[in-house]
Amino acid sequence: MKLTIIGTGYVGLVSGICLAERGHHVCCVDIDEEKIKSLQSGVVPIYEPGLDVLLEKNLNNNHISFTADLKNGVAHADIIMIAVGTPSNPDTQAPDLKYVDAVALSIAPLLKEGQVVVVKSTSPIGTASRLKQLIQSHCDVNFSMATNPEFLREGSAMNDFMQPDRIVIGVEDDFASKKLEKLYHPFKDDCELMMTDLASAEMIKYAANAFLATKITFINEVSNLCEKVGADVSQVSKGIGLDTRIGSQFLEAGPGFGGSCFPKDTLAMAYVGQQAGAHQEIVETVIKVNDHRLNMLHEKILKLFNGSVHNKTIAFWGVTFKPLTDDMRDSPALNIIPQLQSLGAKCVVYDPQGKNQGEGLLPNVAWCESACEAARNADALCILTHWPEFYDVSLEETAISMQTAHLVDFRNMFNFDIAQKSGFISYTPIGMRAWVANLEATHS
Ligand SMILES: NC(=O)c1ccc[n+]([C@@H]2O[C@H](COP(=O)([O-])OP(=O)(O)OC[C@H]3O[C@@H](n4cnc5c(N)ncnc54)[C@H](O)[C@@H]3O)[C@@H](O)[C@H]2O)c1
Repeated sequence: MKLTIIGTGYVGLVSGICLAERGHHVCCVDIDEEKIKSLQSGVVPIYEPGLDVLLEKNLNNNHISFTADLKNGVAHADIIMIAVGTPSNPDTQAPDLKYVDAVALSIAPLLKEGQVVVVKSTSPIGTASRLKQLIQSHCDVNFSMATNPEFLREGSAMNDFMQPDRIVIGVEDDFASKKLEKLYHPFKDDCELMMTDLASAEMIKYAANAFLATKITFINEVSNLCEKVGADVSQVSKGIGLDTRIGSQFLEAGPGFGGSCFPKDTLAMAYVGQQAGAHQEIVETVIKVNDHRLNMLHEKILKLFNGSVHNKTIAFWGVTFKPLTDDMRDSPALNIIPQLQSLGAKCVVYDPQGKNQGEGLLPNVAWCESACEAARNADALCILTHWPEFYDVSLEETAISMQTAHLVDFRNMFNFDIAQKSGFISYTPIGMRAWVANLEATHS
């Protein structure tokens, strides 16, 4: 089938490449001409494992093309998919639909009879119906409207798209339903393709993300209690996750959720609930609890220095919101690092992929080329993102190279035994009691 995707970011690009890989002819449109040029020459402008190989293959066999020319893009397609961003409006915290609306208005005069317009962007309930009217008021051809929320996770995006748990499609007519069934035919052997009405598909996406954010926040609160009562949250997590009714995913305590989706989608769900007169009290509480957690992260480091980090050097391993992505949107690093800086700390950072986006967001940070370089001469080392490569770093050499070998592990990558044997003088994990060496006893 011929498909055009408007918006070539983390979702649009992965969707486009995967749909091309399954035999469709995909045209990706973006207003960012630099991005288009880069993609036309086979260079992926984001970090997503494996995407470069599939891009090259599908460019070579002419299954995918990139353009900044919307007119050509729309003319190409049976299906036009909108995959632009839907961030939160920083003032009202409502989802900001200006990018989606702008696309709707610009495709309206270009549409041809019988095309299907699909909203893939995560959008509040009612958006697809509203866009249908908006487009229809600026064009006089018959077209169908659909929604197709995306559930991929950055870092495993291709795998998630190629082998989804489910495909959700919201439609209002048989024509769109048949077209989209055909589009997703190559994916549906191993999963359910669920056809719903427009509003239910939109709601499924928000409810899924709000539920996952709630699960993370739940275990984070349990971890606070574990620290006070001497339990170990990793064991608690395993013990409850083995219950198939609960499941182990999204049940690891950490610094609090961040990233490009959960913060804005929980805010959007709370906003939609308020507007609709059905307050989402659980989601509102999740947002509050998570914000509080992010704002208190620095306290674990303050504690190591009796409340003052003035002139202390704090090294960070990992600043992206999760490993295997370069995405810095709403990363916990954007809370803890500026807070420590405002208290006089010098912050030194190493992240395998975060520097490009992070440099603009984290001013006055010293960026290093390796984990060892970041830790050298630091007064404390703080692990914020669990990049797999940190397991390969020698912790012994790291501890020796530090000014004072404190290890703060927001991802519980290591444990007390490893930290002690490696020569650290303290180990502060999440959801377990912290350990501080009795240095006087050691030295006497
Ligand atoms: N990132 C994720 O992991 C993820 C997962 C599931 C769903 N989503 C949802 O998918 C949507 C897109 O998210 P993303 O992370 O890919 O965003 P993104 O910011 O990475 O990409 C958006 C792209 O749209 C382009 N764009 C903006 N206006 C345009 C216009 N008028 N015409 C053409 N292109 C335009 C931008 O230049 C950018 O390249 C959001 O609604 C998001 O909530 C994201």
